[in-house]
Amino acid sequence: MSANERPSGQQQTGRAAARATADSAFLRACRREPVPHTPVWFMRQAGRSLPEYRKLREGTAMLESCMRPDLVTEITLQPVRRHRVDAAIYFSDIVVPLKAIGIDLDIKPGVGPVVERPIRSRADLERLRPLDPDDVKYVTEAVGALVGELGATPLIGFAGAPFTLASYLVEGGPSRNHEHTKALMYGDPELWAALLDRLADITSAFLKVQIEAGASAVQLFDSWVGALAPADYRRSVLPASAKVFASVAGYGVPRIHFGVGTGELLGLLGEAGADVVGVDWRVPLDEAARRVGPGKALQGNLDPAVLFAPRTAVEAKADEVLEAARGLEGHIFNLGHGVLPSTDPDALTRLVEYVHARSATRAPSVKV
Ligand code: CP3
Repeated sequence: MSANERPSGQQQTGRAAARATADSAFLRACRREPVPHTPVWFMRQAGRSLPEYRKLREGTAMLESCMRPDLVTEITLQPVRRHRVDAAIYFSDIVVPLKAIGIDLDIKPGVGPVVERPIRSRADLERLRPLDPDDVKYVTEAVGALVGELGATPLIGFAGAPFTLASYLVEGGPSRNHEHTKALMYGDPELWAALLDRLADITSAFLKVQIEAGASAVQLFDSWVGALAPADYRRSVLPASAKVFASVAGYGVPRIHFGVGTGELLGLLGEAGADVVGVDWRVPLDEAARRVGPGKALQGNLDPAVLFAPRTAVEAKADEVLEAARGLEGHIFNLGHGVLPSTDPDALTRLVEYVHARSATRAPSVKV
């Protein structure tokens, strides 16, 4: 190797960190390899329950925070420092790429995303233009900074899945029954398919930005898709979500697929192209594994409300999750949905310690 081919000190450090990240318990579990302990992270770990988050966010609106790489970096790191979780999740929101292409939406505190003019007609569809990486330069910048700061801890990038994004766009805000969304899906299947296809392309572009900047895994949040029956999911949603997964398959980073109330859809969530299927607390993980089939890792699935119970009860429920996960090909411990805003942060820290300790004593020894 000649002098100018020799890697610089910085490059060597970068490569060593990348190797350590690839060998982390989280990424090993995603790849269904043996792990030294069951990896843990929490959906919605960034923000929400942390006092240091609330302090930092004071006076800055949610969407504005998502566009500030300094804030995004710090908020993403806060739960990693505090709870010693095995992965970081990039601080953003599922509606950020929609805002970035000019959709008139806002995130209202205590409510969620609200869209000024809902999308319900073919003419409305024209407002959903493709996402250009230059629309979200702040994401590239923040992911780059985070990968430097995180060392061996992997960073999970994420996006909203086409159905869940469509629900916010068509309803104009959060919805219990998704009636306008379903009216469009059943009433004008062609327009529906065109809407989901556009959203699939926006989501794919947003995930690619995060992976190319250094994210080591991605999660597709289809939070509200449990509102659908399997046949409707297969016909009207799966093609768009499968397009998203296929678009990032070439990067080789694990792809996680999550939704709430998806007991009847678990097999299809895997079929859409995920490497890891997220499970809520309604289906035990051993049963979820039967529904998903071989060749996938599972993520989950402690009920987030359990964290409000006394410590011994939390530990008993965590043991149930670990017990159900015993025979799985790969398991990432998580909640069955996001951290609830009034959760005691110390309960989360204790849970991470507990799962690490319990699983380390049972895990087969790893030869690396
Ligand atoms: O996981 C993380 O910690 C990363 C950050 C993250 C946020 N939103 C930050 C946020 C992630 C992964 C999301 C994803 C998201 N956003 C989903 C999918 C996950 C899920 O919980 O099902 C959904 C459905 C949304 C839409 C959305 N945005 C909702 C329902 C809300 C909550 C409204 C509320 O205040 O209760 C938001 C706002 C939001 N996203 C907040 C945060 C920290 C709160 C905003 C604030 O602090 O003002």
